[in-house]
Amino acid sequence: MGKTIIMEHPLIEHKIAILKNRETGSKLFRELIDELGMLMAVEVTKDLKLKVEQISTPLMDTEVKMIDGKKLILVPILRAGIGMVDGFLNMLPSAKVGHIGLYREPETLEPVEYFCKLPKDTEDREIIILDPMLATGGSAEAAVRFVKERFNPKKISVACIIGCPEGLNHLREKHSDIDIYIAYMDEKLNEHGYILPGLGDAGDRLFGTKQ
Ligand code: PRP
Ligand code: URA
Repeated sequence: MGKTIIMEHPLIEHKIAILKNRETGSKLFRELIDELGMLMAVEVTKDLKLKVEQISTPLMDTEVKMIDGKKLILVPILRAGIGMVDGFLNMLPSAKVGHIGLYREPETLEPVEYFCKLPKDTEDREIIILDPMLATGGSAEAAVRFVKERFNPKKISVACIIGCPEGLNHLREKHSDIDIYIAYMDEKLNEHGYILPGLGDAGDRLFGTKQ
């Protein structure tokens, strides 16, 4: 059984409060998603394996610990997941980045795939799927399913900034083996599949495309 981590931290609460505010414009929204990505990266990488290395400080030789093993692959779900990539890359500058394009069909809310490109050597790597919103959970569930079926990685984690019980339950029910990280758990879904109180449409607020 994978881990389910709901992060609780005053910095996260504060940044989410500004993110949710309808008065927050795209520039600040992007900066906050970036900062929340960095905070999430610290938690998501907590179990990375370390190896001992010998180095010399200016005063003496010593043993230090450094990250072991192959690099991670970050996989943002387009569009809104792109907003989290830079925050994660700030903490994991050598990570590779793949992309999965999904949109929710407006009537059924079912995820529809329109793009998928991942680096080649996925089998002994860990994949971290990024999406700010876990609403019905359909997009994250489909992304995990595609990655499992086509790329067979060593491990899959999903990192979402705002989640709700419905989305978390759906994702966990379909994929008991993955690790799920949610920075902030919101109240519920509305009948249109939006998180309440939520922040509205994350992609539109990031990229300023609201009509
Ligand atoms: C949003 C969001 C997630 C998805 C979450 O994307 O970025 O990918 O909805 O909803 P779900 O959990 O119910 O699947 P959207 O489909 O609006 O596309 P966009 O990022 O291009 O705006
Ligand atoms: N996608 C969003 O961007 N916001 C929601 O509240 C739900 C899905």
